[in-house]
This record gives sequence, C-alpha cells and structure tokens, in this order.
Amino acid sequence: MQKILSEYLIDKVKNLKDKKIFLRVDYNVPIEKNKIKEKYRILESFKTIDYLIKNGARVFIVSHLGDPEKFSKKYSLQILYPFLKNKFKDIEFLDFKKTKELFNGKEFFGNIFLLENIRFFNDKTKNLNFAKNIAKNFQIYVNEAFSASHREHISTFLISKFLPTYFGFRFYEEIKNLSFWKKNKRVLLILGGKKISTKYPLIKNFQKDPLVKKIILGGGILNYYLKSIGFDIKNSYYEKDFNKKISSKKILKITDVVFYKNKIVDIGSRGLEEIFKEIKKFNGITIWNGPIGIVEQKPFDEGTKKLAIFLSKRKNFKIVGGGDTLAFLEKIKILNKFNYISTGGGAMLYFLAYRTLPILKIGGFSF
Ligand code: 3PG
Repeated sequence: MQKILSEYLIDKVKNLKDKKIFLRVDYNVPIEKNKIKEKYRILESFKTIDYLIKNGARVFIVSHLGDPEKFSKKYSLQILYPFLKNKFKDIEFLDFKKTKELFNGKEFFGNIFLLENIRFFNDKTKNLNFAKNIAKNFQIYVNEAFSASHREHISTFLISKFLPTYFGFRFYEEIKNLSFWKKNKRVLLILGGKKISTKYPLIKNFQKDPLVKKIILGGGILNYYLKSIGFDIKNSYYEKDFNKKISSKKILKITDVVFYKNKIVDIGSRGLEEIFKEIKKFNGITIWNGPIGIVEQKPFDEGTKKLAIFLSKRKNFKIVGGGDTLAFLEKIKILNKFNYISTGGGAMLYFLAYRTLPILKIGGFSF
C-alpha cells in the first residue's frame, strides 16, 4: 500500500502525551577546536523538537557524529550539550553508560535527553534483533535526519520496522523542495569533495538521467577522473583502492589545475573560466555539493570562493548542500544568496539520483 508522506508528518500523531520518542536527528556537524562550525542542521531540527515537547512527548535525541566504531571522547556528543542546553533548559545528556542502560530498558526521569553518539553502539550493523531490542524502549520513531537517511543503519532505517514511523518538519521540507524532477527541470551539477567511491554510483545515475545536462567535478573526485583519463596528477590525493572507470559522459573536462608541492590543490583560472562559461549558458537548476579545492588552506580556497561568488550572482535557481560547503559559504557570507539550502550532502545527492531514500522506499512512501 502506498503511503502519502505528508500523512506521516509528526503533527499527524493524535496523542503524543508521555510517548517515548526515538528522535533521529543528524548533528554530524563540522567541529573545530571544540567549536561548532556550522549549526544549520542542528537549528533546523528545533521546530520538530519544540513541537514534540509542546505536545507532552518524551524526546530522546539520537545522532551520530563522525564515523567512530567505538567510544572515543573526540566523537562524544557531549560537545553539543551546552549549545542544546541553551535552547532546551531541561535537556539531560545521557553518557555512554547511561545510553547503554536506556537501550537495556532502564527508565530515566525527564522529558528531553541527548543520547551519546549512536555509532558507539553498532548502529551500522544490519542486525534486526538489535534494532528490535532498541525499539522496544520507545513508542514512536521520528526521522528528522534527512541528511543521514541515505544510510541503511539501525537508527536511520531498520528501527522503523519495529515502531510507528513519522517524519520531522524539516525532513518533509527537503523532500518537497528536492523533488523538482516532477516539474521536469534541467540540472547542472557541481560535485566536489574527496572521495569518489561514495559518489561513483550517483555519478553513474546522473549520467543516465535525461534531466542532468552537465557534471562539473572538483577536489579528490576530479583528481580521480583526471588520473583515469591519463592526465598526470603527480602526487595528488586520489582513492587508490577504488578502480572503477568514470565515463566522460556529461563531465566537463577540466585540466587546468593548481599544483603545490606536486599536489593538486585547486582549480586554475582557465579551468574556472571554462566552468563559468558552462554555467552561463545553462538556465536550469544548479546544484552544488562539495568544495573544489583544499579550502582549509589559504590560498587554495580561491577557486571555491570565486565559484561561490559567481554562482551567487546568477539569477537561476541554485541549490546547495553539504556541511563543508555550507560552512564555507557562511564564512564568506553568501549562503543566503542560494535559493535552497539542503541540510544534506550525500543524502541530497542520493535523493536526486534515485528519487527516493531507503526509509521511504521500504515504507512505501510516495510524495
Ligand atoms: C553527512 O554528513 O553526510 C551525514 O551526516 C552522513 O554521515 P556519514 O557519511 O558518516 O554516514
């Protein structure tokens, strides 16, 4: 049976009073020197949390941070606690021991909790029993983690098999705003970032998609592509243990790159001109995810900065997503020039490539 997604928004639950909610959010945000560098994802979850609290629910906030396999202080969600406490005065942090106790059935008094990093608890396993065991401590599962929902993990996916499942306000916004293929819009994609392995299946899909007209690569992905077409990338980073070939279909071939100590660190000025020419002659939707140079290190952020400024002045509809890209645009103060800011990076691309997400597909949700 097809379920209409809007019918499963959290505000459709009739009685939330005292219900224990497993609320999956995505607080996997960039953190530097103990400071949150980009809060967008966190802030965007507040409307759902406020709604749940206002309606008397007991909210257990679950997220991952980074990709740890076991407890480590560096990836503890405790780092976010003061920021959340500022907004939700009653919030309590359940450390590793307490979160484990909660999953084992212990009762905690209170209405709002931040749990420890879910990846400390084998969230990535596909163990149904484990998901079932966690689920039995809650009454409703709410997914407000669009940006992590391209993953088939327990907290983003499997747990929904054992609990009535609802979606947060922001999750729904994302689906609504990113479903523009329904309007037959043409798309130009700019894909930066480090790893080709995660983006490869998406690129293949985009190459088949008649609405995607051009693909512009940057960063480690461009390095990989250049190497595969025989361009000498010297000692530049590329994923050595990945060995699938990217077809050149729709890809803008940029060979003007900046080398520093024999490594590609940015796109060169002629390379940028080629990109600008391509963007100028295009009048559909531009979607951007991932810096095109090593933005952490000046002046290798120049290419990304010039691209951002160029895009910000274009009149056509521009979508941007991904923690690092958002943090960069915020830093140079032009994030508000983009028409839609997705909380997702990988999830946004996954949704665009497959036009669904694992949790939507398995639940039979249409939108
Ligand atoms: C993201 O930042 O893309 C999401 O939080 C997913 O993180 P992951 O790649 O570690 O699953």
